[in-house]
Amino acid sequence: MSSYDIVVMESRSPEPMNDRVVRFSYVAIFFHWVVAALILANILIAWQFHSIHGALGSAILQIHKSIGITILLLSVLRLMWRLLNPPPPFATTMQAWEKGAAKIVERGFYFIMFAMPLTGWAIASTLSLPTPIMLFGVVHWPYIPSLGTIPFDQKLRMYGLSVAAHHLLARITYALLALHVLAALRHQFLKRDAVLARMIPWLARHGAIAGLQGS
Ligand code: HEM
Ligand code: HEM
Repeated sequence: MSSYDIVVMESRSPEPMNDRVVRFSYVAIFFHWVVAALILANILIAWQFHSIHGALGSAILQIHKSIGITILLLSVLRLMWRLLNPPPPFATTMQAWEKGAAKIVERGFYFIMFAMPLTGWAIASTLSLPTPIMLFGVVHWPYIPSLGTIPFDQKLRMYGLSVAAHHLLARITYALLALHVLAALRHQFLKRDAVLARMIPWLARHGAIAGLQGS
């Protein structure tokens, strides 16, 4: 096996072999990029809420809700899969503080992947003029059962809290995303190591980056 080959390690605990790029499994890579694309799409859609109204506004809100619930369902599968299949150990090029920071950002993202859709679902379940949640116009998705039937004043309070939480979480998402992407770019272009290739194996297979581990 050459130093440009990629291997999959079973667990984050043992140290990686020095002369190989230890990548994430294809299942982890699939979940990572599909969920990342859906989160980014949902953020871009949400930024249009203030400028698009009427029937088109309702339609893009339904798409936002549909994508958000899809993220929730995928995140349940992703978390179960990750608990059963621990990720590979961090790259040997990462210092202790970088590994600590990466762990905090990763955990923050897992929190966001659940908290963002759940607070959105709470908003949709407590609207004073309830609109059914239709996933991609096809599947009827229920309101959060305990919220659909509470008295009106409590519903109003819950609505306010859910909107405030959803907005706050959106800002936390932006911060995590900025840190995460800057870190990935720093590894790719400044440290020139194989960290991004662990999530995009194509980069390593084509030898597109200098300084692969052990090379
Ligand atoms: C909203 C978008 C994103 C989310 C929620 C996200 C989340 C995560 C999470 C949770 C992990 C840990 C591995 C796992 O459990 O799958 C991870 C790893 C990683 N992400 Fe992202 N990510 C996002 C976008 C991006 C982008 C845009 C890039 C590249 C520019 C990127 C590059 C990476 C890399 C290279 C790793 C592997 C880090 C390592 O070697 O341990 N991610 N991401
Ligand atoms: C990971 C998934 C999600 C992301 C990233 C996301 C992101 C956002 C963002 C960025 C905003 C605008 C916040 C602002 O103006 O500062 C927003 C608003 C909103 N989202 Fe989500 N959202 C997600 C899931 C959901 C879900 C599942 C639902 C409903 C089922 C939902 C319903 C709403 C509603 C109703 C608003 C408008 C709230 C208001 O300002 O009155 N979201 N979302």
